[in-house]
Amino acid sequence: MQTPSAAKQLGEEHRRVWPLLDDLASIAESLSPGSADEGSVRRYAEAVQKIEDELDIHLLREEKILFPPLEAFLPRDSGPLAVMLAEHEDLRSDKTKMKELLAAGPQADTVAQIREIALRFVAVLKSHIQKEDNILFPMAEMHLSASDKERIARELLEFTLVG
Ligand SMILES: [Fe+2]
Repeated sequence: MQTPSAAKQLGEEHRRVWPLLDDLASIAESLSPGSADEGSVRRYAEAVQKIEDELDIHLLREEKILFPPLEAFLPRDSGPLAVMLAEHEDLRSDKTKMKELLAAGPQADTVAQIREIALRFVAVLKSHIQKEDNILFPMAEMHLSASDKERIARELLEFTLVG
């Protein structure tokens, strides 16, 4: 059986996280200092956790397996690869902030901040996913050799299994 391509494997993970982002956005939009009751804060925490469970490993799979061979034809410090790496860091830092604010409890002044960061996180990750699916993955498909593509696809699959 042929190994599913990198674009297929990583694209499926993108499609899995997308509805979780819609959930997070709608929960965040409904948060206001007056409505941050225990139930909505718990739903918010669960939504962040579900995204984290998908995202942490996904970002590592891209950074450790797909991105390094792309450096043969894309610079690491400018252009699409640099943008993707910078966005990964922005996403990690916003995710950490969301968790820190949650841990501090929903005081009136943190609710607005939670809402703002969550909505920014959703917007950045959605546009990031679209850039990878529509620009970066097709570039990888075009420029990488057949044997590199096969090796990357296999390593991605193994990385998931090893966890
Ligand atoms: Fe991705």
